[in-house]
Amino acid sequence: MVIRQMVSSDLDFALRCANAEGWLSETREVFETFLAYDRNGCFVAEHDSQRIGICVATRYKKNGFIGELIVIHAMRNRGFGKRLMQHAMGLGGDLPALAVAAMTTALGGTR
Ligand SMILES: CC(C)(COP(=O)(O)OP(=O)(O)OC[C@H]1O[C@@H](n2cnc3c(N)ncnc32)[C@H](O)[C@@H]1OP(=O)(O)O)[C@@H](O)C(=O)NCCC(=O)NCCS
Repeated sequence: MVIRQMVSSDLDFALRCANAEGWLSETREVFETFLAYDRNGCFVAEHDSQRIGICVATRYKKNGFIGELIVIHAMRNRGFGKRLMQHAMGLGGDLPALAVAAMTTALGGTR
């Protein structure tokens, strides 16, 4: 798996990921805002040159937030999500306060 910075041409993919989870609050504008705020914290994971997941790590001064962690259904349970999260935590690991959106959709029963 390769993790790279998200770019504007990934927005459709990011939106598809969010829509597949039923996350209606995560609109194109939301992802555009993440990119505009700090594109270094917006990631896309690729496997065999295909996009398979996304994650966003956002720094707010001394605080940080990791969310939008999504691995497409077909590629789950292979360790990709964990590696994406570890990558994102590497970016915010120096912060005194780092919030992680760890509540998974699966808790609602869609794992
Ligand atoms: C959560 C998600 C990113 C996990 O991706 P994944 O590639 O399947 O996860 P991994 O294979 O790397 O699993 C890593 C660990 O998390 C556990 N895990 C995986 N999916 C899980 C889930 N949905 N709920 C709880 N634990 C989960 C695995 O058992 C594994 O545990 P281990 O390290 O003790 O063996 C993926 O299920 C997903 O995209 N879910 C929908 C979006 C979501 O809920 N995102 C999180 C909130 S932002």
